[in-house]
Amino acid sequence: MIRSTSEESDRDAATEMRSHIRYHPLKSRSKAFVLASAVFSNTFIRKYGIFSVILCLGLGYLFYTRVLYQQYIYQTLPLYQKSIRLRLGHSENFSNQIDRWKPIGNQSDRLQIFSAFFDPRLEIVHNFRVTDGTLPFGSVRIFSILPLRIRRQEVYCHFKYASNRTVWHRADQVESIHENFGMEFSASYVVCKLVGNKHQVDIEVPVEVGITYGPEETMVQPTSFVGIHYPSRHQGFLLRTPPSRKLAICVGPAHHNYSNAARIVEFVEYWKLLGAERFYFYNKSITAEVDRVMSYYRERNVAEVLQWNLEGYEFEQELRYEGIFAALNDCLYRATLVGDFHYTALVDFDEFLLPLFLPTNATTVEETLVQYLDRRGRFDVHSFNFETVFFYGFYEEDYSQLPEWGNNTYLYTQVRTLRTKKPLMHHNRSKYVAVGRNVIEAGNHFVWQAMKDTSELRVPEAEGLLFHYRELCIGYGCETFVEDARARRFSNEIYHSVNTVCKRLFPETAGICPLGSE
Ligand SMILES: *[C@@H]1O[C@H](CO)[C@@H](O)[C@H](O)[C@H]1NC(C)=O
Ligand SMILES: *[C@@H]1O[C@H](CO)[C@@H](O)[C@H](O)[C@H]1NC(C)=O
Ligand SMILES: *[C@@H]1O[C@H](CO)[C@@H](O)[C@H](O)[C@H]1NC(C)=O
Ligand SMILES: *[C@@H]1O[C@H](CO)[C@@H](O)[C@H](O)[C@H]1NC(C)=O
Ligand SMILES: *[C@@H]1O[C@H](CO)[C@@H](O)[C@H](O)[C@H]1NC(C)=O
Ligand SMILES: *[C@@H]1O[C@H](CO)[C@@H](O)[C@H](O)[C@H]1NC(C)=O
Ligand SMILES: *[C@@H]1O[C@H](CO)[C@@H](O)[C@H](O)[C@H]1NC(C)=O
Ligand SMILES: *[C@@H]1O[C@H](CO)[C@@H](O)[C@H](O)[C@H]1NC(C)=O
Repeated sequence: MIRSTSEESDRDAATEMRSHIRYHPLKSRSKAFVLASAVFSNTFIRKYGIFSVILCLGLGYLFYTRVLYQQYIYQTLPLYQKSIRLRLGHSENFSNQIDRWKPIGNQSDRLQIFSAFFDPRLEIVHNFRVTDGTLPFGSVRIFSILPLRIRRQEVYCHFKYASNRTVWHRADQVESIHENFGMEFSASYVVCKLVGNKHQVDIEVPVEVGITYGPEETMVQPTSFVGIHYPSRHQGFLLRTPPSRKLAICVGPAHHNYSNAARIVEFVEYWKLLGAERFYFYNKSITAEVDRVMSYYRERNVAEVLQWNLEGYEFEQELRYEGIFAALNDCLYRATLVGDFHYTALVDFDEFLLPLFLPTNATTVEETLVQYLDRRGRFDVHSFNFETVFFYGFYEEDYSQLPEWGNNTYLYTQVRTLRTKKPLMHHNRSKYVAVGRNVIEAGNHFVWQAMKDTSELRVPEAEGLLFHYRELCIGYGCETFVEDARARRFSNEIYHSVNTVCKRLFPETAGICPLGSE
């Protein structure tokens, strides 16, 4: 009873209170007010609110500049480049300078310059500063040997025009090519933009370029100039149409009296069967026999032989391996911009990239390398990377397939049929075919720098391999080998073409190309 009485009295009190409280209808407050008061009554936001506002403004600014940047690189610059007409000046002739190593400044400083290429790709110049009223329409890339620890802001480009007028400005970019191993000197590139006035339609481009190094106050004239290579004049020096040719081959400097003439003939003839159209060789030091082979291909417009008179360094102590990275990059730009090649393979005389037919489809016709690349390629691929297997000189050789008329008996690709079983992984001594217009910096085993949003295509073992015909074991996997005679697919053609070339070049040895002493 007592309990029920107290419950009743509680209920009465509650009823009384309810009649005294006045409720405000929610509608009288705006939604915004409710939201704002909810937000600012939150202690967390009260504490960090200012910080958040700053963060938002920062993000907003970044977004805004990104939009501006997009507009600059994707609209303004291409539009400008399309609207101008480039010309070489009244002589209308390219430079008559021959590409070879020349000193930059005092010879005892051992800085040297080799070649220069006009590069119309706008991605290269988009973040270079320009003065008001001008816009960049391309850049000139200069290959050189510079100290690794160079003071970058003290490098200047001097552009020489057909009229002998010289214009100079500070270099926009000075980089040591990768793989320099921290040595005193490095193969390097210097990039200098070319700009035009916004109101100009007709722009004269320079014919030659030289480099100086030192503080601005002591500005001196360059000791040497190199000719600037331009893409074909039919395209207005710009890469306006797709590449007209397919595959070029680059081989690093031949040095120390390189003597294996037979190997070069086999190399060229085999690569031609794979689809190669043009070879770039670098001649540092070769024997008379090899000179004969290279001259032969040069006369037939199959090879271009560059003089590689790079002296004055202790190689592997002060500078990597005959300055090879300058040669590889020079070659890539030469093949892409001047040669107008779509693909460039960077290999050695003992290396072949073989497309291998898919084992699941035995009926697939045998493709050349070019056909394979065309089939697998996409617009956003910058290189095709091939894993390597080694056909060592100490494995047993097989002459059973040698045709009786094959006077040049030792063809690496035909006689060596045993190889290491397991390929090394991609980037470990691998080699590649670059899609030149997408590559910025080439390395020995893979591409170091490429255009934005492009990627490497790693060729699976079943689709293609780097066949490397090497003499000495590199230290692993040499004991386990398998038979692989797939390089014999061109057996008849390769024996035949080597015979033909050697017969013409070496009549005194009954048409046998000397193997030299390697
Ligand atoms: C330009 O090239 C043409 C043809 O090669 C040559 O005859 C002419 O002399 C050259 N002109 C100059 C100024 O070098
Ligand atoms: C080049 O440098 C060497 C050593 O620094 C100096 O003796 C020589 O006079 C310099 N030559 C010139 C032409 O400046
Ligand atoms: C340019 O300068 C070089 C050397 O100074 C000279 O030989 C040449 O005749 C000059 N050419 C012109 C067109 O002035
Ligand atoms: C090349 O051969 C010549 C003569 O046979 C020799 O004098 C020279 O030292 C050799 N050069 C190199 C780099 O081995
Ligand atoms: C290779 O270089 C040597 C020495 O500079 C030169 O004599 C020879 O003609 C060159 N050969 C070729 C094919 O360029
Ligand atoms: C196999 O080869 C045939 C004939 O060339 C072709 O029609 C077919 O598409 C190929 N199949 C595959 C999976 O590649
Ligand atoms: C091979 O060499 C012999 C001489 O040793 C020559 O008679 C023959 O024509 C050569 N064959 C070819 C295909 O060059
Ligand atoms: C290359 O592959 C071999 C064998 O798998 C391995 O021992 C070596 O460390 C690799 N080298 C690099 C640079 O990755």
